[in-house]
Amino acid sequence: MKVKEILVSKEQIAKRVKELADELNVAFADKDPIILSVLKGSFIFTSDLVRYLNFPFELDFIRASSYGNDTKSSGKVKISGLDINIKDRDIILIDDILDTGYTLKALINELKKLRVNSITTVVIVNKPSRRKVDLIADYVGFDVPNEFLVGYGMDYQDRDRNLPYIAAVDIDK
Ligand code: IMP
Ligand code: MG
Repeated sequence: MKVKEILVSKEQIAKRVKELADELNVAFADKDPIILSVLKGSFIFTSDLVRYLNFPFELDFIRASSYGNDTKSSGKVKISGLDINIKDRDIILIDDILDTGYTLKALINELKKLRVNSITTVVIVNKPSRRKVDLIADYVGFDVPNEFLVGYGMDYQDRDRNLPYIAAVDIDK
């Protein structure tokens, strides 16, 4: 596994995360939402983003696994870990990547069953060319090409989440 190219630098990420927070600060000023962060990939993005938020909110982490140790989506998503009562609440759902969309779509469907008031999706990267389901994220950090990415929380086989930038990798090297 070798880093091929840095697609988004640390500085670009920092600037964009602040911009997203500024937009959320306007949209959620009076909503007292629940932020649900999808582990593990969005832990760094979430921790950076929430430090810029100036409205009241509750925070929880959930798990949704669709990939295992493979780079291909199975289309199946397992959801766990939600332990706040979210009924009638406005939800901000944070994930690292919107790729095929299976994960976010499945999560949205589950959250709807729990009778939430609204769901707003936020992702740091979006790979529009890979989409398999009809889904657009409400807030997107960066649109990226169809490459396998690591860094800023994203992993290949649970490694390289700590890289401060977002990089495309050659997974065979
Ligand atoms: P989706 O269900 O295909 O949209 O996949 C979303 C999940 O797959 C993300 O939350 C990531 O955990 C993982 N994923 C998709 N693409 C990549 C990638 O390029 N690098 C690392 N993880 C990825
Ligand atoms: Mg993930």
